[in-house]
Amino acid sequence: MTKLAVIGSGYVGLSTGVGLCLLGHAVTCADIDPQKISILNSGESPIAEDGLNEGISQCLSANTLAFTTDVINAISEAEVVFLCLPTPQGDDGSADLSHIEAVSRQIGSHLQAGTVVVNKSTVPVGSSVVVAEWLGRTDVSVVSNPEFLRQGTALHDFLHPTRIVVGGDNEEAVDKVVSLYAAVDAPILRMNAASAEALKYAANSFLATKLTFINAIADICELVGADIFDVVGGLGLDPRIGDQFLNPGPGWGGSCFPKDTRALVKIAEGNGYDFALLRGVIQTNDEQYERIALKVVELCGGSVNGKTIASWGLTFKANTDDLRDSPAIAILSTLHSMGARIRAYDSAARGVEQYPWIERCESALDACDGADALAVLTEWPEFSSVSPQEVFKKLSHPAVVDGRNVLNPSNWKDVGFEYRGVGRA
Ligand code: UDX
Repeated sequence: MTKLAVIGSGYVGLSTGVGLCLLGHAVTCADIDPQKISILNSGESPIAEDGLNEGISQCLSANTLAFTTDVINAISEAEVVFLCLPTPQGDDGSADLSHIEAVSRQIGSHLQAGTVVVNKSTVPVGSSVVVAEWLGRTDVSVVSNPEFLRQGTALHDFLHPTRIVVGGDNEEAVDKVVSLYAAVDAPILRMNAASAEALKYAANSFLATKLTFINAIADICELVGADIFDVVGGLGLDPRIGDQFLNPGPGWGGSCFPKDTRALVKIAEGNGYDFALLRGVIQTNDEQYERIALKVVELCGGSVNGKTIASWGLTFKANTDDLRDSPAIAILSTLHSMGARIRAYDSAARGVEQYPWIERCESALDACDGADALAVLTEWPEFSSVSPQEVFKKLSHPAVVDGRNVLNPSNWKDVGFEYRGVGRA
C-alpha cells in the first residue's frame, strides 16, 4: 500500500483517487472547494459518475480514503502526488496552466525528498519540465501519466484501461508510478514525458477528427440520398477503421475535445507547424452545430422568431450531468438568438440556471407542450421509448429534428411528423 495524494477532485481527480484506492493504496484527495469536500466526506459523489458513490463509501469505510481542503496536509506523507487540475482554454486557445502553477508553487517546499509528482491533467508538451521548475526541487521527479477517461464511465475506464502511459526521464520515478498499477491488466507504455504529453493530445484530436469526418459523410449522405447507417456499418467492418466512435450527431463537445483540439493547434503553431487539418476539423464541428440549428429553422418554415422549440437533452452526451461545451447548448443558443423560446428536458443536467433563457421542464412530454418543433440533442436512452403519438398531441406542429438518430424515423413519419435525422432521410 503506497501513500498517495490527489490534488483536484473533479471527475478525473475523483475517479483517479477512488480508483487508486480500490487498487489497494491509501489516498488523500484534496480540493479547494469546501462544499465539494464536505459532500465527499459525507460519503457522496458531487458529480454523476457510474460507480463513484459505491467506491467512495467502500474506501471511506476501509479508512483508506480521505478528503481535505488542506493541500499541504494531503501531500505531507505522500510518496506520489497526482495533479488532476483543470487546464481550461486560455484566451488565445492555448491551455491555461495557472491552476497547475499555483498548486506546484504552493506544494513545492512541503514535499518529502524523493516524492514523485504525476501530471494527469492534459498539459502542453514540455509541461513536465515547467512543473519541475515551479516545484523548485531537485530531489523530486515529475512524471506524465495521461488519463483517457470518458465521463460517465471514468471509474470503469480507470480500472480497465486500454493502456497505461507513463512518461519521464527518471527511471526510478517511472517504475514507482508503474508499480501503482500492478493490479491492473493493461499494456504499460513507458516513454519520455514529451511523448506521453503529445500522445494525450493526439488521442483526443484523432477521435475528434474521426467524428467530424463521419459527420461530414453524414451531411453528404443527406445530399446524395445515401443512408449513414449503411455506410457506417460497412466502414466499421474494416479493422483499419474500426466500428467505434462513428455515430454521427450534432457535433462533438464536452470538457476535453474542444479545448484539447484548440490547444494542439496552438502547440503546433508555437513550434512552427500550421495544423490546417485540425483547424478544419474544429471549424467543421462548429458548422455542424449550425447545420442542426438550421434544420430546426427549416422545419419551422424558415424562421424560429417567436416560435417555441422543445429540446430533449442538454448535456454534452448521455450518462453525464455536464453541460461544458455541450452541442445542445450551442444549438439552442443559436435558436434563442434567432428569437426562439426554448423549453428543455434533461433528467441529469447540472447548472442549467446559468442559461436563464432555457425553461427547464419536468418530462420529455412536458417540454413539447405547445412547441412548434422538437429537437433531440442528447442521446438519453429514455427518448427512444417516448410514444410519437403522445408527442404529436403535445406539439402545435409535428416536426422533429433527431440530432442523435435515436428515434425510429418510420414510426414518427407514420404518425404524421416531418422528420430530419443526421445522415438519413
Ligand atoms: C473524451 C475521450 O473519449 C477521453 O478518452 C478523454 O480522456 C476525454 O475526452 P468525453 O469527453 O468524456 O471523453 O466524451 P466522449 O464519450 O469521448 O465523447 C466526446 C464527444 O463526442 C461527445 O460530445 C459525444 O456526444 C460525441 N460523440 C462520441 C459522437 O458524436 N459520436 C460518437 O460516436 C462518440
